Amino acid sequence: MKGFFLTLEGLDGSGKTTQARLLARFLEEKGIRVRLTREPGGGLKGVRDLLLEGEALSPEAEYLLFSADRAEHVRKVILPALEEGYWVISDRYLDSSLAYQGYGHGLPLPWLLEVAKRATLDLKPRLTFLLDLPPEEALGRVATPDRLERTGLEFFRRVREGYLRLAEAEPERFRVVDATRPVAEVQAAIRSSIPQLFP
Ligand code: TYD
Repeated sequence: MKGFFLTLEGLDGSGKTTQARLLARFLEEKGIRVRLTREPGGGLKGVRDLLLEGEALSPEAEYLLFSADRAEHVRKVILPALEEGYWVISDRYLDSSLAYQGYGHGLPLPWLLEVAKRATLDLKPRLTFLLDLPPEEALGRVATPDRLERTGLEFFRRVREGYLRLAEAEPERFRVVDATRPVAEVQAAIRSSIPQLFP
């Protein structure tokens, strides 16, 4: 595999999308070919509306929809780009499901991981930036909450704790970044992890 797969994770309102764009621009300036992508919706068109605006679904149904989207995302977008030597930056990936559907909604992690293994062809990011901030602050930043964001503060606390546990379990893959700081400082912290990746 010639490319490099990295992901950004964090609560809604953590600033992932802005940071992903800035990082993509930085890497492109270094002459790296970058494919910026996101979940949900990276693989299956229409899944975003179904998940975020449609009727309330069971966490199981939610997870299977996220997984269906991810299965297509991996096969049609991420792997082909990596094969061509692109750096793929995904704004959310499997860790979102582990944090939200697993730690947040209480679905058992072994089941999530079993489904994911097949859905993702076991593709894992080589590097994951977790933009960490307190749930109170994250919720305060979200202008128009979608359905999943209306789940409340307690839910967001569990999701944040889940993310931190995932990061603790895989310190070599995760970089936890304090996302309460201004955009430029967060970006600088992200970039400071990148040079050591270059040979
Ligand atoms: P996103 O579009 O990234 O929202 P934002 O830009 O506000 O962070 O994600 C939409 C919502 O979907 C978000 O609340 C997190 C949720 N989500 C899950 O619950 N599980 C998943 O596997 C993914 C990819 C997203």
